[in-house]
Amino acid sequence: MSTTPDDTPHAPTALPASSVLPNLRVAILGAGKMGGILLQAFLKNNLLLPDQIAATVQHPDRAMALSAQFGVEVSTDNLAAATHADVILLGVKPTQVPALMAEIAPALNPSKLVLSFAASVKTRSIEDAAGCDLAVIRAMPNTPAMLAAAITALCPGRFVSAEQMAIGQRIFQTVGRTVIVDEKHMDAVTGLSGSGPAFLYIIIEALAEAGVNVGLPRDVATLLAAQTTLGSAKMVLETGYHPALLKDQVTTPAGCTVDGILELEEGGLRVTLIKAVKRATQRAKELAAG
Ligand SMILES: NC(=O)c1ccc[n+]([C@@H]2O[C@H](COP(=O)([O-])OP(=O)(O)OC[C@H]3O[C@@H](n4cnc5c(N)ncnc54)[C@H](OP(=O)(O)O)[C@@H]3O)[C@@H](O)[C@H]2O)c1
Repeated sequence: MSTTPDDTPHAPTALPASSVLPNLRVAILGAGKMGGILLQAFLKNNLLLPDQIAATVQHPDRAMALSAQFGVEVSTDNLAAATHADVILLGVKPTQVPALMAEIAPALNPSKLVLSFAASVKTRSIEDAAGCDLAVIRAMPNTPAMLAAAITALCPGRFVSAEQMAIGQRIFQTVGRTVIVDEKHMDAVTGLSGSGPAFLYIIIEALAEAGVNVGLPRDVATLLAAQTTLGSAKMVLETGYHPALLKDQVTTPAGCTVDGILELEEGGLRVTLIKAVKRATQRAKELAAG
């Protein structure tokens, strides 16, 4: 990063753009929904300059459209993109990873870092497909990445250095927070925070529907439900208090909240959510197999 302060009298009016990771070339192989979000975040955060990025997709017309939109090199040539990159992001669907690895294997060597965010695909299978002591980080972001509000869990494969792990974290911090976990927990992460936004949208939708049911205009009900969800999540994250303690603070004896909680318990919300995450975790274990 440039250290020139831009408020000194001699500072140029327009500093040349510099990147946070100046010496790295990054390839995003499979710049779809999640890969595209990352691509935009890299540019927005000056993590990388456009000429440090190459991306690939399956369809040539989408390659042209993306290239025109973001001013980066986008093609359908995975091997070329991987050959010229120091860091390679795998963003295709889990079942497409083996074919993609076979395609780019000639470009891989132990000096490169591969970051895969394909659900269910183990670091070991990518290492084996590479045929060398390749540094592989597995990551699981979620869709709030679109607003830089993701949580991404990362785990290292067998050949990842601390420095490479720091690069992996820096890359995913452009779309939100990161946490490092053991690989044995990655399917559970997929079931909780990967699928979690969908579960929470259903809860927000249901709360808004309830608001309409008790007479609120729909837009007001949706705002109340969504901001209440956001505010409650911030309370958990920023106070560090156990959610049960925060719940108790809202629940006055013989008040209205405790009546509502009784309904939630009778309806089995808690057990239903636990079962939803368990089922999603189970399915996450199967995805790479198709
Ligand atoms: N979406 C999420 O919430 C989320 C969250 C966490 C992890 N993930 C993981 O992210 C990965 C991608 O998911 P997504 O939702 O972003 O899917 P997506 O939008 O379908 O993106 C997949 C991309 O891969 C491209 N592609 C397919 N075959 C290719 C090939 N042989 N070479 C190069 N590119 C190829 C597609 O190209 P075209 O555009 O030309 O079709 C598309 O751009 C999955 O493995 C998923 O498990 C997704």
